[in-house]
Amino acid sequence: EKGGYPHFMLKEIFEQPRSILDSMRGRLVAENSHLVMASVIEFENKFKNADRILIVACGTSWHAGLVAEYLIEEFARVPVEVEYASEFRYRNPIIKEGDIVIAISQSGETADTLAAIELAKSKGAMIFGVCNVVGSSIARATDAGAYTHAGPEIGVASTKAFTAQVTVLTLLAMMIAEKRGTIETSTLRQLMLEMEQIPTKVEKALQLDTEIKVISEIFKDAANFLYLGRGFNFPVALEGALKLKEISYIHAEGYPAAEMKHGPIALIDANMPVVVIATKDSSYEKIVSNIQEVKARKGRIIAIVTEGDAVIPDMAEFVIEVPDTHEALTPLLSVIPLQLLSYHIAVMRGCNVDQPRNLAKSVTVE
Ligand code: F6R
Repeated sequence: EKGGYPHFMLKEIFEQPRSILDSMRGRLVAENSHLVMASVIEFENKFKNADRILIVACGTSWHAGLVAEYLIEEFARVPVEVEYASEFRYRNPIIKEGDIVIAISQSGETADTLAAIELAKSKGAMIFGVCNVVGSSIARATDAGAYTHAGPEIGVASTKAFTAQVTVLTLLAMMIAEKRGTIETSTLRQLMLEMEQIPTKVEKALQLDTEIKVISEIFKDAANFLYLGRGFNFPVALEGALKLKEISYIHAEGYPAAEMKHGPIALIDANMPVVVIATKDSSYEKIVSNIQEVKARKGRIIAIVTEGDAVIPDMAEFVIEVPDTHEALTPLLSVIPLQLLSYHIAVMRGCNVDQPRNLAKSVTVE
């Protein structure tokens, strides 16, 4: 049932070209400028008129929500707030009729997320679900939604569900933008074309596996890890750190790269591996200076860069190249090496990667 892979997690990591494609299927055909999500069309006026969008989720799904915040604000120009479901529901949140609440959940059974949407619903918000499990409690509690088609995710650490969520949320952001008229036709077209290339590019990123195994061997005994990213890749830094801590039990922190100097920089010394996501995008120059700051303090830099980068290889100890794409789509590629890194480190440390201690696949307790 593991399809020849030693663990479900590795199988699921390698399924991503397929699960991303399945999550786009029927929704996007760039050649015909076809971009359709039935539930967005059904609630078109809500999406056109909403003054703001709230996103509620937990864990990895919350990280997908953060990516969605960047996407929706960039393209659809609607203010977005991303909330931990558990914080949102207990603080008498301000919700108005006309607000849209997007709930993201792989299992569709997370107790805090379910309670958060029941609360938002009672205050008149429209609830849009992004769930993986068909017919799950959250899917049933929503007014509308778009399923991720990742297929069953068995490994406790979420991998293919995350990229499927980001895929669906990217299409959603593009659709909202189109309906609100906030995106240039040429930009939309370019995004659609790039999006269609993502499964092939993920396939290519997966070929990094052997290289990442070598790096994992070198860093497997580290006590701490720092993950840095900016813009669309800030949530990916958080996700990379979460993946590592949950399955390898190494302490890891994800940070917006520019925030490093406001505290975490104090932790950097010759024993601190720092994973920096430094793909060619609008914050590239800035992140190059962040890398220099880490290097000046002898931190050990593992950089995720865009193929062909000629600058960072001279600065970083290890460089992992991912294919080039539109800046807004880089999370779908940059997260792949981070999943593989945590997987290999955990296996090398003898951890049970599919069932890490203290964790459950569905968190139905509050
Ligand atoms: C991380 C992980 C958890 C879940 C979180 C939310 O790898 O698996 O952080 O993402 O418990 O679960 P869902 O998406 O089922 O609501």
